Amino acid sequence: MVLKKREILVGKVQEIPSGRSKKFSFKKEGDTLEAFVIHYKGNFYAYLNRCRHVSLPLDFGDNDFFSSDGKFLSCKNHGALYSPESGECVAGPCYGSFLETVPVEVREGNIYCSIR
Ligand code: FES
Repeated sequence: MVLKKREILVGKVQEIPSGRSKKFSFKKEGDTLEAFVIHYKGNFYAYLNRCRHVSLPLDFGDNDFFSSDGKFLSCKNHGALYSPESGECVAGPCYGSFLETVPVEVREGNIYCSIR
C-alpha cells in the first residue's frame, strides 16, 4: 500500500458493499471537512458531505446517504436528490447544482481519495 501525496486511505473495497457508503474527514486550510464514499453500480464515488442548498451535512450523522429506493443520494434536511454518479441535484431546492466531488481511486482493493 503506497499513498500518493495528498491522498488518504478510506478503506477496503469489501468494507463498502453496493448501495452503501463510508464517511471520512480530512483537514484543508485549517478546517476539518467531512466527505463520504459511495459504492454505486460497481463504481466508487466520493463527495463532500455538504448540501448545495444550505451548507449542512446531507445525513443526520448516521451515514445514511441513499434515498429509500437506492437510486439517488438524498439530503435529509429538505429532501434534495442527487445523482450518485455525477453529484448533480436532480430534484429539490438546489436543482441543477452539483455536490463537490472528491477524486477516488481504487488500487489493489483499497479505496483512496485525493484531498487537494
Ligand atoms: S439543506 Fe439539503 S435540501 Fe436543504
